[in-house]
Amino acid sequence: MPELVIAIDGPSGSGKSTVSKRVASALGLAYLDTGAIYRAATWWCLDQGVDLEDPAAVLAAVRAMPLEMGVDPAAPGVRVGGTDVAAAIRTEAVTGSVSKVSSNLDVRAELRERQQRAIADEGLPEAFSAGRGIVAEGRDITTVIAPDAHVRVLLTASEEARLARRAAEVHGTADAAAVEATRQFVVQRDKVDSAVTSFLEAADGVVTIDSSELTLEQVVQAVLDLAERRR
Ligand code: DC
Repeated sequence: MPELVIAIDGPSGSGKSTVSKRVASALGLAYLDTGAIYRAATWWCLDQGVDLEDPAAVLAAVRAMPLEMGVDPAAPGVRVGGTDVAAAIRTEAVTGSVSKVSSNLDVRAELRERQQRAIADEGLPEAFSAGRGIVAEGRDITTVIAPDAHVRVLLTASEEARLARRAAEVHGTADAAAVEATRQFVVQRDKVDSAVTSFLEAADGVVTIDSSELTLEQVVQAVLDLAERRR
């Protein structure tokens, strides 16, 4: 286990990616976006023409996926078979299908190993943080992937705050129409996701930070304070 492992879970729109990258940069740590791993797996299956309704075919494809995860928080790239998929994994086609892949328990077991190796600083392109550690974010990092992490945070926010953030990301505005267009997408995906991962309530020993009324700086500082105390 590296010197410092920070695990951050939370639902869609909780701000965990932005916060995790900022914390990793501030502490000189690597950064692992596990949602991007599920997204890359989904992109790969679609690219290979795999039927997402066929769990065995999806598992076989994911096992063969030549995934390279960048862990630099300033530029966390994602490549599959040498192709840069950073933009492709954020398209609606992938976002709308990712739960079909991430709800496959055999796929989760396969990807769990890859995530744990990355957190242990094995199998990364280079030892990015020189053993200083990593910030890993997702839905089950605090509970399944790295339950022994030094700092474990559940980042929550009110549904309205989450929808407004996602609407701004996807539509460039958080006006009423954009929020409504986002609502069904986000609520539905959280519902499917929460059937396989538990990211709406903090497990024992996991600190909940509600970001609804906090600025980004305040949330980042709260995580840095937890890390400092842990040292
Ligand atoms: O955080 P995100 O929206 O990029 O995550 C994409 C999908 O991957 C999301 O629908 C849930 C799933 N996911 C998961 O099941 N477990 C994780 N540790 C991270 C993401």
